Formats: sequence, C-alpha cells, structure tokens
Amino acid sequence: MARDLAALTDLLGDGGVVALTGAGLSTESGIPDYRGADGERRFQPMTAQELLADREARRRYWARSYVGWPRFASARPNDGHYAVAALQAAQVIGPIITQNVDGLHQAAGAVDVAELHGSLEQVVCMQCGERYARAAVDEWLQLANPDFDRSADGPLRPDGDVAIAESLISGFRLVHCVVCGSDLLKPDVVMFGESVPKPLVEQCFSAVKSARAVLVLGSSLAVMSGYRFVRRAVREGIPVAVVTHGWTRATDEEVSVRIDAPLGETLAALADALPG
Ligand SMILES: NC(=O)c1ccc[n+]([C@@H]2O[C@H](COP(=O)([O-])OP(=O)(O)OC[C@H]3O[C@@H](n4cnc5c(N)ncnc54)[C@H](O)[C@@H]3O)[C@@H](O)[C@H]2O)c1
Ligand SMILES: [Zn+2]
Repeated sequence: MARDLAALTDLLGDGGVVALTGAGLSTESGIPDYRGADGERRFQPMTAQELLADREARRRYWARSYVGWPRFASARPNDGHYAVAALQAAQVIGPIITQNVDGLHQAAGAVDVAELHGSLEQVVCMQCGERYARAAVDEWLQLANPDFDRSADGPLRPDGDVAIAESLISGFRLVHCVVCGSDLLKPDVVMFGESVPKPLVEQCFSAVKSARAVLVLGSSLAVMSGYRFVRRAVREGIPVAVVTHGWTRATDEEVSVRIDAPLGETLAALADALPG
C-alpha cells in the first residue's frame, strides 16, 4: 500500500486532476453502493419507464423513498469526501465528475462538481417540467400521509429508499405538482433507462481532455456513463488512477495506478502526502 500510495502521489502531484467518483465514496457515510467488490449488481433499481407508466409503481417508489429520505438526507460526508475537498483546495484536484446523487461532495466543501446523474435533493414533474426541492415535496407527503408509519425497519438501499411491507405501500397517498396537478413526480436523477443530458457529457469530456490525470474513486465503472471518461482519457494519453475495492471495468492496460483499499483512509493519507 505504501508503494502504491507513493505511485499515486507521483502521478497526481503536479495537479490538474479530474476526479470521477462513484457510490463507493459514500458507503462510509452509510449509503450502500450498487455492486460491491465482486462487480455483481445485488439490487434491481426501478426504471424511469416503470415509474412513469404506472401509478402503482409511483406509489411504491414514493412510499419506500419517503421512509428512506430522513436517513438519506441526514448522511454526512466522510473522510474521503473531506480529503477530496482538501485536495481540490490545494489545487491538486480540479473538476469533480460524480455519479453520486447524494450531494456529499458539496457538503464537504467541494466546488465545481458535475452531478452526472442529478441529485435526490430535487424532484421534477414529468408532465410540465417544474422542479421542486425534495424537502418541500417531503412536507407535502407528510401532510398527505399523516398516519403513515415512517419509522419502518430495514436497511437503507442505494437509491435512498427502504423496502417496506406491501400493506404499507397500498395505503400511501401520492402528491401532485402544484403547477399542473399531475402526479408524475420523479426524483431529478438519471434513473435506469434514461441518459445523461448531452451538454453535461460534453462539459465533462472537455474537463477530461484538459486534465493531467483522471482519478477514479469508488466506482466499478460498470456503467458506460462513467466508464466513457476513462476511455476518453486513455485515448488522449492521459493517465488514469483507480482507488476502489475489487473488480472494475477498467482494464490493467487502461490504468496506471490501481489501489484496492478503503477510500476514507487512503484519501486522507493522499491529502497528507501532497503539498497544499
Ligand atoms: N451515494 C449515491 O449517490 C449512490 C449510491 C448508490 C448508487 N448510486 C448510483 O448507482 C450507480 C452505481 O455506479 P458506481 O460505479 O458509482 O457504483 P458501484 O456500486 O457500481 O461501485 C462501487 C464501487 O466502490 C467500491 N467500494 C465500496 N465501498 C468502498 C470503500 N469504502 N472503499 C473503496 N472502495 C469501495 C465497491 O467495491 C465498488 O467497486 C451510479 O450511477 C450512481 O448514480 C448512487
Ligand atoms: Zn407539473
């Protein structure tokens, strides 16, 4: 590990680094990832098509999400997020491209964060396009469901929800867009079956193109949405480092330095080792 860290420090020491982060950076904050070290997906997320096609799917989504929200919203940044913010303040890391939807980079003080998959802090009406703060929608849901038991047990899942009994779901009342009255409310995130807005992808490609190195943190890179930035870096001759447990889609030919170690302590050690 010491030798790997020295190689990483060498690679990143001159700055100009673009960080590409994933769910693994937030597991130490209590938000689970999708895949884990073996790269197998242990969780089947709801697709945007399912959510839009069927009111009962929306009832299920919002009931589960309503139970998970207080826990998701109270997650705090961990040592890894703080180290990334410190490395950015020290001008080692420049732009951050994150696949996470939890806002924890910004909560740790990072700036210039491109949220590739949006944020759970926002809700969008798929009928008229109006956007709302999730906190406001949460208040509407509380008013519409005064007797709903929100304290259901069960682990928080990667999408910020909790699997709850069917009997609880069937009694859950949906809320409506105040502009158009539709109940087609969707978290403002890129769900499975949707794609990242093109201008945002282009902005990230151009950040990668002008980087000295790309640092992947806590991502299996299984989804092309993040992996394409590694491919672009490789094509441009820009070195790529990966700090993530277990399998990633990036091959050994594509990666200059690979560290399989916990992100919190690894990034804290990196921030200590680099000037600034
Ligand atoms: N926190 C969030 O916002 C969150 C959580 C779950 C899923 N998602 C969404 O799901 C998709 C998942 O893709 P992904 O590539 O980001 O995640 P992923 O689940 O596919 O991969 C996470 C990787 O991080 C590793 N990891 C987990 N904890 C770690 C730790 N403490 N130290 C080092 N490595 C660790 C895992 O072994 C795995 O390789 C993303 O598109 C994202 O939008 C977001
Ligand atoms: Zn609307």
